[in-house]
Amino acid sequence: MRVGIIGIGNMGSNLAECLSSKNVELALYNRTRHKAEELGRRLGARVYDSPGELVENVDAAIAFVTDDHALKTISLETASKLERAGSTVFINASTVTPTASLEAMRILESRGIGYVEAPVFGSTDEARECRLISMLSVRHDLLDKATQVLKLYSSRIYYLGEPPKAMVVKLALNNIALAFPAILAESLMLLSSWDVELEWLRKVSAGTWIEPVLTRYWDRALGESSPRFTVNNAGKDYSCIGIALREKGLPSFISETLSSMYLLAGNSGLGRKDYPQIVKFYLELAMKKNVEETAK
Ligand SMILES: NC(=O)c1ccc[n+]([C@@H]2O[C@H](COP(=O)([O-])OP(=O)(O)OC[C@H]3O[C@@H](n4cnc5c(N)ncnc54)[C@H](OP(=O)(O)O)[C@@H]3O)[C@@H](O)[C@H]2O)c1
Repeated sequence: MRVGIIGIGNMGSNLAECLSSKNVELALYNRTRHKAEELGRRLGARVYDSPGELVENVDAAIAFVTDDHALKTISLETASKLERAGSTVFINASTVTPTASLEAMRILESRGIGYVEAPVFGSTDEARECRLISMLSVRHDLLDKATQVLKLYSSRIYYLGEPPKAMVVKLALNNIALAFPAILAESLMLLSSWDVELEWLRKVSAGTWIEPVLTRYWDRALGESSPRFTVNNAGKDYSCIGIALREKGLPSFISETLSSMYLLAGNSGLGRKDYPQIVKFYLELAMKKNVEETAK
């Protein structure tokens, strides 16, 4: 099978390693071409100049791009440059709003390209080791082909019916999964601002249900960690959740707050850092306030 990856960022590059280990014939496209070239050389994968050209030359293209805007851009570029659609399927594994997923489906299907909505749970390690959890929404006639491709990189596949159901479940999961570092950031900011040693949080929570959650994030937040999922992408996911709720006329208290927390830290220079590192931004805020108070 010939499989293309569109978007060679943290996820796309690790997915490429996985697919290469399965001996699929691999093709790559990245907006910033040079970022895909070294990987292409190493894995023996051809790098294409446009997503349309890539889609024409593969059986399935998997998109791992940032957000609504990126998905729309590559869908339009694919649809406009395509000369023959063949039986290629376009698998969107990016996390976007349900409305953006439906729009990508409309754009691509207007040119005869089968659209598969398949966001994933799991991160770069799971992508590299071909054990992502895939949520799948697709027209029934494309189900077998989509499943065949997803099996290459997923340890579990859940079929949820037609788009955008899979995207809604993905957003609902991330609403829970990405919340803790933001809550930790506020708790540590509180301790620091009142001159309480941060370690007390760990000591007092020992043996309670909070301890394993704190342990999971402590070093990743306060030490150095390579980016698996970025601060900017966490802010983007909460924006998607807020938009999806507001489009249904519902309040979005948590997602709006958490998107602001992540995006504020992202805009201060931490945007490409691993998302638990937002803790450092809020600790720094507390420290700056402490210095100001002492100076008064
Ligand atoms: N990392 C994770 O753990 C994880 C897990 C599950 C789902 N996801 C989702 O998967 C997607 C990719 O995540 P990632 O961590 O790989 O992100 P990333 O490292 O930031 O990579 C983003 C990719 O999107 C491309 N891109 C951005 N804007 C574009 C545009 N306007 N047109 C075309 N391409 C564009 C970038 O190209 P350039 O190199 O040119 O900037 C890059 O290849 C996101 O939707 C994310 O939420 C991530």
